[in-house]
Amino acid sequence: NTGALWGGRFASGPAEAMAELSRSTQFDWVLAPLDLAGSRAHARALHRAGMLTDADLATLIAGLEAMEADYVAGSLHPDPSDEDVHGALERLLIERVGAEVGGRLRAGRSRNDQIATMVRMYLRDHARTVAAGVLDVVDALIAQAADHPDAPMPGRTHLQHAQPVLLAHHLLAHAWPLLRDVDRLRDWDARAALSPYGSGALAGSSLGLDPEAVAAELGFDGAVENSIDGTAARDVVAEYSFVAAMIAVDLSRLSEEVILWATKEFGFVRLHDSFSTGSSIMPQKKNPDIAELARGKAGRLIGDLTGLLATLKGLPLAYNRDLQEDKEPVLDATVQLETLLPAVAGMVATLTFEADRMAELAPQGFSLATDVAEWLVRQGVPFRDAHEIAGECVRVCENHTPAIDLAELSDAELAGISEHLTPAVREVLTVAGSIASRSGKGGTAPIRVAEQLARAGEELADL
Ligand code: ARG
Repeated sequence: NTGALWGGRFASGPAEAMAELSRSTQFDWVLAPLDLAGSRAHARALHRAGMLTDADLATLIAGLEAMEADYVAGSLHPDPSDEDVHGALERLLIERVGAEVGGRLRAGRSRNDQIATMVRMYLRDHARTVAAGVLDVVDALIAQAADHPDAPMPGRTHLQHAQPVLLAHHLLAHAWPLLRDVDRLRDWDARAALSPYGSGALAGSSLGLDPEAVAAELGFDGAVENSIDGTAARDVVAEYSFVAAMIAVDLSRLSEEVILWATKEFGFVRLHDSFSTGSSIMPQKKNPDIAELARGKAGRLIGDLTGLLATLKGLPLAYNRDLQEDKEPVLDATVQLETLLPAVAGMVATLTFEADRMAELAPQGFSLATDVAEWLVRQGVPFRDAHEIAGECVRVCENHTPAIDLAELSDAELAGISEHLTPAVREVLTVAGSIASRSGKGGTAPIRVAEQLARAGEELADL
């Protein structure tokens, strides 16, 4: 006997090439503690159904608990002959408690319902770590925003100067998507909280087991409604992968800005020494490697998601071995985020903003032209005309050599452009005036941003 989980109808064991291809212990061994917990719950279900004596149950529970202790101590290992985590744990259990008792545990369950359950347990557990890591990044963004309550910066669209905004407003614009990502994880958990254990291979069990009791013991809200769905569906895994990829993409967009801001040309931030790297040849270099790795890993997590979806798209019901390919992408996405998030949080928390440089650039690029147009609207000029007039102001400024700023237009030049352009327009030609005037809900005015900051803090505390 090769120790495989089948044999009766096979005259030979698997070929080496078969075993090599089939083996998954190199990545599914991380699920061992969860499978051991599942086995304990299953043993109790078998016992309640009259399939195990009190003594058998006690032997199995003691064996499974001892195995978990060995796993934690690092002394429980799969063998190269083991196909997967489930087979390895059965072999190790039988080695420990004997085949007479150990061989009873497989009744009424299949690796198909086991693996579907273990993946959900693993992801539900790690989703909490990932969410905590995301909230640490949000916390760092909120702290930076609170430290710069009225520092202006050039707001951009198309990467061109658009309108001045508060740095705090911009930082919070990175916090909100991350808060939504955490909300997505919580939402996802409600769907992931149903246990497939008891679905068997696909049809359920004839042994009078109680899937609801097993589900409750494993921390689920209940058991799945449909055993075929329970063993074959991976939408729960794919949805988790999407949220993981979305988190990575949101971190990547923030990181791209940090990379730009840290350039000589922007000069908006300085990275802390402990969250940046140097060059092996260029002594002067200080590189934003964390941000670049975040940007790079976003590509990797998108690949994890799309690879999984491609694996799923052609699969008929119920279980197919293709489904073994769900684990590496989703474990990878999880491990990558758990490594990345603390580094990004540290990078953000230790950024030094060059507030003077940002303030100096905020009005440049004629970013107050919209303020001129809106001032004209308040004087009763139709916006269509106001837009033309403000545009002509920009043209006159650019016709100077060198070009001048809107605030530098003379009274005569203003009057020459339009009779409506009295010197009073200058009141809106300051960055502070422009920012303060955008005081509707969600606007960049300091009073609104202060409210927003408080709400983001509440949201952070609630999640
Ligand atoms: N290692 C398998 C997986 O990851 C477990 C289920 C195997 N089931 C089977 N019938 N071969 O999906």
